Amino acid sequence: ERTQVAIVGAGPAGLLLAHLLHLRGIDTVVLERQSREYVEQRIRAGVLEQGSVDLLTRAGLADRLHRERLVHNGVELLFDGEGHRVPLTELTGRELTIYGQHELVKDLVAARLATGRPLLFEAPAVSVEDVTGSPVVRYTHNGVERELHCDVVAGCDGFHGVCRPAVAQALTVYEHVYPFAWLGVLAEVAPSAEELIYASHDRGFALHSMRSLAVTRLYLQVPPTDEVAAWPDARVWTELRTRLGRTAGFTLNEGPIIDRSVTALRSFVTEPMRHGRLFLTGDAAHIVPATGAKGLNLAVVDVAVLAAALERWFAEGDESGLEAYSATCLSRIWRVQHFSWWMTTMLHLTPEADPFARRLQLAQLRYLTGSTASATSFAENYVGLPFPEGA
Ligand code: FAD
Ligand code: DHB
Repeated sequence: ERTQVAIVGAGPAGLLLAHLLHLRGIDTVVLERQSREYVEQRIRAGVLEQGSVDLLTRAGLADRLHRERLVHNGVELLFDGEGHRVPLTELTGRELTIYGQHELVKDLVAARLATGRPLLFEAPAVSVEDVTGSPVVRYTHNGVERELHCDVVAGCDGFHGVCRPAVAQALTVYEHVYPFAWLGVLAEVAPSAEELIYASHDRGFALHSMRSLAVTRLYLQVPPTDEVAAWPDARVWTELRTRLGRTAGFTLNEGPIIDRSVTALRSFVTEPMRHGRLFLTGDAAHIVPATGAKGLNLAVVDVAVLAAALERWFAEGDESGLEAYSATCLSRIWRVQHFSWWMTTMLHLTPEADPFARRLQLAQLRYLTGSTASATSFAENYVGLPFPEGA
């Protein structure tokens, strides 16, 4: 079995890369460990930058997205019992899209299947070998062990995949783990506000988001050791009411909770993002703490840069794009890493932080929402920095 590009992982990165390469006439095989149902129902991100939406639109992948998305033009920062709106579009000319990652994954799976090119579910890659020579991906499917030979391996298999470990000796890792996690719940109830609310409260961070006009997405900062069992419905709603409460005029709409999970917050970068003919993309190469809503958007940029570089290499033998891939992505990734760390640090309660640190957070929040210069800096990062040239 042989292909031009073996794509390991059918998350947003792998599926989008497969489609961008299909549009350029490049042959790929996509291998995914989980079932189709599993990847289409996994609740994760919900915020897309305008740059990501533009790219999906140009690739012909955004018809349903344009029909069903919510467009947001601002976000609210809540502290001291009062909301402070940052008018993102007024400050930057850019808008945000609310559209569930699992809905995007459904669209990408459908687009892939429509091309007739291979996408194998329940087909875990078990090893990646000879990436500095003739790469081979070994995987299992229907109980049979198989070998996929290829020119290039795209490691799109997320943080817990096999591609990064396969070349670990050639990589340097930079990592920071935070002393808190997020409990995320999905509730069948109309959102309680038109926009996202990021709340900095003395009991910890909370976030009000949404998936549609009928489904609310909410997050609470919790200790990283907490399991979902520690958070029955009543406790979730009480804590959300407290942290999202304000001095005047806010009622939190409550409804049935239909999904509940705990996610650790982590900052992680691999350098470089390439070894030989193996290219790492998305969560396989880097993780940001969820606070800035950047993870999915970073994955989109990586695969856009990689697709353009692979096109030049296959068509003209021009290796320069592949040589530049890692540095091109990493320069923007480190900027986004800083933004995500900064926003996380500003909004969360660090367990052993002293009252001085809390005062600094509040001073930062007042400056951010009170100064147009500061709000503009926040806004240009939050709506998404320009994509690298050629992506
Ligand atoms: P993944 O989505 O992890 O996909 C990797 C795929 O590879 C998976 O399907 C996995 O099953 C498969 N795989 C793994 N190992 C193997 C193997 N050995 N063989 C074959 N397949 C394998 N980002 C944002 O931009 N905005 C947000 O609002 C946001 N909110 C988030 C909220 C939460 C609660 C979480 C958890 C994440 C959030 N993120 C957000 C981050 C975002 O979800 C990820 O960055 C994104 O999923 C990365 O896509 P990916 O394709 O690189 O990795
Ligand atoms: C969502 C997730 C985020 O990490 C964020 O910053 C904003 C919204 C969400 O899932 O809706």
